[in-house]
Amino acid sequence: SAAVLFLWAVIGYGLGSVPFGMVVTRIFGLGNLREIGSGNIGTTNVLRTGSKAAAALTLLLDGGKGAAAVLLARFLAGEDAAQAAGLMAFLGHCFPVWLGFKGGKGVATFLGLMLALAWPVGIACCLTWLAAAAVSRISSMGALVSAASGAVWAMLLGYQPVAVLAALLAVVVYIRHSANIARLRAGTEPRIGQK
Ligand code: G3P
Repeated sequence: SAAVLFLWAVIGYGLGSVPFGMVVTRIFGLGNLREIGSGNIGTTNVLRTGSKAAAALTLLLDGGKGAAAVLLARFLAGEDAAQAAGLMAFLGHCFPVWLGFKGGKGVATFLGLMLALAWPVGIACCLTWLAAAAVSRISSMGALVSAASGAVWAMLLGYQPVAVLAALLAVVVYIRHSANIARLRAGTEPRIGQK
């Protein structure tokens, strides 16, 4: 029912809106992530603190919250609720009320919820991220290629409803990467490992 979907949308948003990058960076005593690198709350920027452990933990938690939203909703309320919770976890990460709606760029959460919604699509998206990042040595390039590939992988692998969701998420990922896209075009986007 609509009420159940709404409930799972709210739970998904709540989970997604926890800015784990900021939390982990604080707990590790690495300072305020907003004042480091790009100022973004994601894994790539946590890596700029120099702590690979903090970055790995952020990736796990930001991906995990997307996956958790999907799996919890699926287990307790079915597939429609899982899609609603996943979408809202992603939007919660990108637009968290706690940070004045200025959140992250959605990449880890996108990957986590794809893995939970349709694991072959999730794995394909992760491999696409790795391939594009390995070739370019640029994290945002991995993100942009991977996000765009989600709907294509979902169609190819036979997950039509997930393809629609992936296309929608990709639009938001591109909007959230507008500064990165401008730097990529200008040739000034930093490579992975660069400060
Ligand atoms: O996924 C985020 C990454 O694509 C870009 O992060 O900090 O380089 O803007 P950042």
